Amino acid sequence: MASLKIVCIMSSVRDGRMAERMRNLIQKQFDEVLTPKGHTIHFVDPEEYDLPVLKTPLHFYPDQSKAPEKLRNLNDIVISADAYIILTAEYNRSMPPALTNLINHLPPPSFEFKVSGMVGYSQGNLGGVMAMTAARPFLSEMGCLPVKHFVVIPYVQNEVKEDGTTANTHIHESIKKLLNQVEWWAQAAKTQRASGTPISSFEMYS
Ligand SMILES: Cc1cc2nc3c(=O)[nH]c(=O)nc-3n(C[C@H](O)[C@H](O)[C@H](O)COP(=O)(O)O)c2cc1C
Repeated sequence: MASLKIVCIMSSVRDGRMAERMRNLIQKQFDEVLTPKGHTIHFVDPEEYDLPVLKTPLHFYPDQSKAPEKLRNLNDIVISADAYIILTAEYNRSMPPALTNLINHLPPPSFEFKVSGMVGYSQGNLGGVMAMTAARPFLSEMGCLPVKHFVVIPYVQNEVKEDGTTANTHIHESIKKLLNQVEWWAQAAKTQRASGTPISSFEMYS
């Protein structure tokens, strides 16, 4: 089987964010489940990109060479991925703006004909489930269809320590299930992409 590159897109730029411990948790689980199979994970952190509130998506620049370099680099990372994991907090029962802002900067074809998985977390009792419900049609529109399983982590502040460890076996099992499903679908999509892709349904707006 081919080795896969998974890109995990984070959602929060808040001071004191729980996103750090969640990144550690995903990295640890990935190292257990998929690293031994030769797959890699790369985290895209909106805090590192510090994009403005969307003014000009990458694909709206008539001359791509005039687009900010960091945006072109980000797009290259997204294009290079075989699958995505969306690591989303929940803000007002939806996705945090840093997540949608980052993805909206990029052309949907960069994500197209791939799959995605979702990990949600919150300090409340719904564990990001409402954010993931909102993310489903968003990811479908980007062309990277979400796999069936999704990870829900309520009360993240209690369940996951800063170093990404957790005593909750349900969280371990749930992330493992997600990684296995993403891997299976990503392999299938990679094989199919190698033999060509269907006509894109991407519409260019301005
Ligand atoms: C603007 C805002 C809205 C929030 N709305 C929700 C919510 O709808 N449901 C929930 O469970 N937690 C909500 N929270 C609390 C978050 O679950 C908590 O802040 C969590 O740590 C966010 O992830 P982060 O720390 O990585 O930013 C909200 C937090 C913020 C800042």
